[in-house]
Amino acid sequence: MAARIDHLVTSGTFSLDGGTWEVDNNVWIVGDDDEAIVIDAAHDADAIAAAVGNRRLLAIVSTHGHDDHVDAAPAVSARTGAPVLLHPGDLMLWKQRHPDLNPTGELSDGQVVEVAGIGLRVLHTPGHSPGAVCLYAPDLGTVFSGDTLFAGGPGATGRSYSDFPTIITSIRERLLTLPAETEVRTGHGESTTVGAEAPHLDEWIARGH
Ligand SMILES: [Fe+2]
Repeated sequence: MAARIDHLVTSGTFSLDGGTWEVDNNVWIVGDDDEAIVIDAAHDADAIAAAVGNRRLLAIVSTHGHDDHVDAAPAVSARTGAPVLLHPGDLMLWKQRHPDLNPTGELSDGQVVEVAGIGLRVLHTPGHSPGAVCLYAPDLGTVFSGDTLFAGGPGATGRSYSDFPTIITSIRERLLTLPAETEVRTGHGESTTVGAEAPHLDEWIARGH
């Protein structure tokens, strides 16, 4: 049974530094007919549980701790028993949304999350946040980039705990080194490819965002 990728768009808010903004998030589900993982349980536990269906949910993998990416994670975990995984560098962001809860487990660079006979390698890509990660699935020809890389440039680095030079280093060294045809499945908006984005790195550095 080949692994496949399911995609949801869910709507809610993102809050940080005293502001709140309406956002649409991409929720990615990787699995087969028997088991699955969720990448970023955003906003809508009902919709995510429906998309998982009666499959065994092995893990809820969080690309980073911003509340729009983790707000529904405890609810999906409670319904399915799946562990919530987050890089410890983003625990302070998680705690802003879930002060009385902890993620179930940690993500670390080089770790491989296995589902449906394939592996997704954790790439620690700080910059948008200190504990931001991407998930690279070579068997699927894709990387799940969270808010580190979008169609058109890097993720935002204007708010607390973000750093532009750091995200540029992460993108240059960890993402643009992947095969050019690698599909980049992002945390918000349209997908892109490594090859489509790589030529623009110098423009992003020059403009500073
Ligand atoms: Fe974010």
